[in-house]
Amino acid sequence: MSKGRIFSGMQPSGKFHLGNYLGALENWVRLQNDYECFFSIVDLHALTSKFEDTGSLPENIHHMALDWLSAGLDPERNIIFIQSQVKEHHELHLLLSMMTPLSWLERVPTYKDKLQQLGAQGKDINTYGFLGYPVLMTADIVLYKADTVPVGEDQIPHLELAREIVRRFNHLYRPVFPEPLAQLSKAPLLPGIDGRKMSKSYGNEIPYAASPDEIRGRVRLIVTDPQRVKKSDPGNPAVCTAYKFHEIFNASQLDAINAGCRQANIGCVDCKKNLAEQMVVHLADIHVRRDKYAANPARVKEILFYGAERARKVAAATMEEVRQAMHL
Ligand code: ADP
Ligand code: NA
Repeated sequence: MSKGRIFSGMQPSGKFHLGNYLGALENWVRLQNDYECFFSIVDLHALTSKFEDTGSLPENIHHMALDWLSAGLDPERNIIFIQSQVKEHHELHLLLSMMTPLSWLERVPTYKDKLQQLGAQGKDINTYGFLGYPVLMTADIVLYKADTVPVGEDQIPHLELAREIVRRFNHLYRPVFPEPLAQLSKAPLLPGIDGRKMSKSYGNEIPYAASPDEIRGRVRLIVTDPQRVKKSDPGNPAVCTAYKFHEIFNASQLDAINAGCRQANIGCVDCKKNLAEQMVVHLADIHVRRDKYAANPARVKEILFYGAERARKVAAATMEEVRQAMHL
């Protein structure tokens, strides 16, 4: 039996945080064992909001490659590449855009939400490419005939749309593409230091590439049980954001932390010092790998170049079929 095929991408925003790691990247590292994986740094998608600031792209792309490699993504077993370097993404996006009704795009919930958000900030980025984001995403996936797409909850409508576009293409011309299936990520949401979902838009993140001292500094700021003012007050781990971090990074001491908090034997300051040290240990391998790749930018470039070459071969074969099916 042949392995299933995965496509997944991330925008090179330059602000990769621990939530992104636990919610997406760590899952990819597991998936690489069971699937044939195409992982793409989707710089074209980043243009939908960053078209005024393309100067920062090369550095952000390099950092994203470091993020991925340091997490343990294997550049031999996976195809790791920059989206814009494989021109077939541009080409298929254009062709699929011809057969995608506007009404399908306008009803995508993330489109409506983002539009409202950005409108409130007085930003006019309701561009053609912004609306067409899910069409580009569809092209990304089907170019490799990926059958499985790991997604977060908010991406489900995009994948539904991708399936509709695929059905339309296959019906109009010839069944070239498999319908991709969403694989919902089971990772819990990581809170930020203020207790809300960790997100680059809230400024509450702990950067994935944070040094041990930066980790210690950020962890010191994590909110705890607001009712617990003095060390002698008993605390409630159920409402403590630091405790949620302990659940993820310090599972082996969880019972002791829980009891110590409820019985006021551990103060919040010490509790978070302990947490920070556990996180430093937990992320140590990542830092070692990151330093190794960071010291060798030519090797990183080579990996991305090699990945694009391999991606291009698969993409070109698909486009051959697409052009034939469409009589182009
Ligand atoms: P942000 O909210 O910082 O803008 P993105 O929306 O770019 O992050 O998310 C990129 C990926 O990381 C998605 O797969 C998303 O589900 C995941 N992710 C983002 N924030 C978190 C979080 N706090 N906990 C778990 N996963 C997250
Ligand atoms: Na987000």
